[in-house]
Amino acid sequence: MKFVDTHCHLTDEKFSADLIEVYERAKNSCVDRVINFGATLKDSAEVVELAKKFSGMFAGVGIHPEEVQDWDGKNSAEKIFELAKKNKVVAIGEIGLDYHWEKSSEGKILQQKIFVEQLDIARQLNLPVCIHEREAHGDALKILQAEGKNLRGVLHCYSGSLEMAKEVWKLGWLIGIDGPLTFKNSAKLPEIVQAAPSEMLLLETDAPYLAPTPYRGKRNEPSYLIEIAKKISELRGESLEIVAEYTTKNAENLYKI
Ligand code: NI
Repeated sequence: MKFVDTHCHLTDEKFSADLIEVYERAKNSCVDRVINFGATLKDSAEVVELAKKFSGMFAGVGIHPEEVQDWDGKNSAEKIFELAKKNKVVAIGEIGLDYHWEKSSEGKILQQKIFVEQLDIARQLNLPVCIHEREAHGDALKILQAEGKNLRGVLHCYSGSLEMAKEVWKLGWLIGIDGPLTFKNSAKLPEIVQAAPSEMLLLETDAPYLAPTPYRGKRNEPSYLIEIAKKISELRGESLEIVAEYTTKNAENLYKI
């Protein structure tokens, strides 16, 4: 059995003391590949560097919607473009929309503009996209429908409705499932996981954030991915091996890893 943690942040300082042990534990828990995502230009450069040092480690580069102050137009676009061409970079991300803290319409419009510009980089380089979307379901879907042509990707840490998920799947995009599926208040997620075509699901930890039960509240790490896989297996009435098989295949197909 093997799994891919398709979204984490091992460049986070929470891993600076014991990254080697963390990665070792991942490998011992059948997580044989991970993809780290950048949130800023600096962080994007770091995920690229880190991937060089570990086998089975890949990177995604981009500017997160909560970090749009990092974006200075053409210059940043060029930097992301150059980073995205480096070895072991398999995606543009995480990019998208986050309206949780951004309530002003100018701020939202700025996020949308930077999101669309980065979608364009992905299209030019023929790379898949990892989208961060929080409390911006309608606008994110509209942008995907209008600007997502010839692009594939995933809505990471999916938090939308089943209706929206169906629209996302229609576009050929996947959804990423994280620790919140294992929480008592997992809301709509179990129903969405049950309804999902198996080829539309990706597993991810988003480590160091969102540790699954029974680690909730602690630092998350890729070896905990198994807890999310177990929950999917229980909800869908499939063996863990089957879940490992199709989620790994989905990750390989999308990210060409
Ligand atoms: Ni993330």
